[in-house]
Amino acid sequence: MSARFASIVGLVVLLGCARPSGEPLPLGARAGDCGACHEDHFDEWAGSPHAASARSPVLEAMLPEVEAVWGARARDACVSCHAPAHAPGDEGIGCVSCHAAAGNHAERDGALVVDLARPIAGPFGDTGPTLAHATRRGAFLASPSLCGTCHELTGPNLVREPTLTEYRASPAAAEGITCADCHLPDAGERPLASDATTPRRVRSHRFVGFDPPWGAAPEEAAAAAERTRALLAEALSLEVERDAGGVRVTLANVGAGHSVPTGAAFLRDLWVDVEVDGVVVAARVLVLGDVPMRGDTPVPLLTRADRVEVGSLPAGASRAARVAIEGPLEVVLRGRAVRDDVLAALGLEARAAEVPTHEIHRVRRAD
Ligand code: HEC
Ligand code: HEC
Ligand code: HEC
Ligand code: HEC
Ligand code: HEC
Repeated sequence: MSARFASIVGLVVLLGCARPSGEPLPLGARAGDCGACHEDHFDEWAGSPHAASARSPVLEAMLPEVEAVWGARARDACVSCHAPAHAPGDEGIGCVSCHAAAGNHAERDGALVVDLARPIAGPFGDTGPTLAHATRRGAFLASPSLCGTCHELTGPNLVREPTLTEYRASPAAAEGITCADCHLPDAGERPLASDATTPRRVRSHRFVGFDPPWGAAPEEAAAAAERTRALLAEALSLEVERDAGGVRVTLANVGAGHSVPTGAAFLRDLWVDVEVDGVVVAARVLVLGDVPMRGDTPVPLLTRADRVEVGSLPAGASRAARVAIEGPLEVVLRGRAVRDDVLAALGLEARAAEVPTHEIHRVRRAD
């Protein structure tokens, strides 16, 4: 990792001279610079959607389409949030996007204020001195307001991703559970940095979501798929009750602090099938995911739509369907991050195998 090597060279150079007091981040602000000392945090982050936010093939294929249909300013809006360049040279959402964030101009559309001249925000407030950076305790860092600044979209054009608004209306928010509580779970105790000795509570920086790790080796992709499946299984419950002549299937959002799916819901697909002897006998009896529409016809891309049919399930809500099938059966909830019609419209059919179909729940009824 050349950025790390550069940082270590920088560290050696710095050790030879006294650090001018008050000078911010003398060792650099790129994620790779932080990774020279915070290796575990760096490795988790490097495999996360935040590290890849500027180079997903879906985003890359959408940008020319956005520019052609909605214009260059819309394209610039996409890029300014997915590749904000908060540290010169950082590709995606790097460490300083969160740890040097000082506040926002508005709780939406990426209007974040990042100030590299301020000490690095963290949870502790009693960390030992480091040559690399001063530290401060930062309440903004762990707040939904930070996440929501980028995870609440009111444009461009038909793009609406109201995750922060959904969160604020959720049972989780009413109980004081934050985005960070669910998305940066406890990862045990260890020293924070390679040159530190005090064990401290740390949080996972994998930022597990729906998106696949594009281009990952098969083993890594399988591990990521299992983490996504487990997260989706936590979000949704599936119940099957027998009644006269059939079953009643209920899907409920019991575990997410926002709608499911949230965010880029216009790409997502979650559906319930009924199977007998391993064969689907009733397909898609319940479906979650937004559908871009042109008049009364579903279209694959937002850029080809004139409205969006919202199909996500709010936090705490449920949806039910009745299926008139008697005898033993299995009800299966499946999910996929990007629909096939979207991949085809973007010329990405060749990468369809990288987008796994997750089997989230399977309920068997023998009666
Ligand atoms: C204000 C910030 C912001 C802007 C502007 C924005 N996005 Fe996103 N985008 C996000 C966030 C946050 C997610 C993650 C939500 C999720 O995964 O459901 C996301 C997810 C995505 C995804 C799915 C993940 C991936 O990269 O494959 C695509 C594709 C995407 N955006 C494309 C676009 C396009 C095209 C535009 C411009 C028309 C755009 N975005 C504008 C914040 C933004
Ligand atoms: C030269 C090594 C080094 C580099 C480079 C470095 N750090 Fe640190 N960092 C440390 C040490 C040492 C501590 C204190 C550990 C302790 O006392 O437990 C620390 C503490 C932290 C903390 C906890 C602060 C608190 O009080 O809660 C955060 C967050 C952090 N660093 C983030 C970063 C980020 C982001 C970068 C890159 C911009 C970075 N670090 C670069 C060595 C480094
Ligand atoms: C999307 C936002 C975000 C990004 C990106 C991010 N962090 Fe964090 N980080 C957090 C939050 C939130 C906490 C926990 C704050 C709290 O508990 O008060 C945290 C905590 C930490 C801590 C303290 C120990 C712990 O695990 O709680 C360190 C050290 C740290 N991050 C380093 C890094 C480094 C290094 C990078 C880049 C490789 C990075 N972070 C990227 C949001 C982020
Ligand atoms: C500077 C903008 C920014 C901030 C701040 C930010 N995010 Fe993100 N986040 C993004 C973008 C852009 C993506 C889409 C990455 C992609 O998949 O292409 C994303 C992706 C994610 C994903 C993965 C989504 C998926 O479907 O796989 C999760 C989970 C997530 N963010 C949670 C958080 C949390 C929790 C916080 C606050 C601690 C946070 N983010 C702060 C911009 C941001
Ligand atoms: C109570 C726990 C909880 C809270 C609070 C919570 N989330 Fe989630 N989040 C989940 C679960 C479970 C999933 C998996 C279901 C899903 O993909 O929608 C998820 C999925 C996501 C995704 C993947 C997007 C997708 O495709 O659906 C993003 C992005 C995200 N959360 C961001 C946030 C942000 C930003 C906040 C705060 C404003 C937040 N979450 C608050 C539990 C939580």
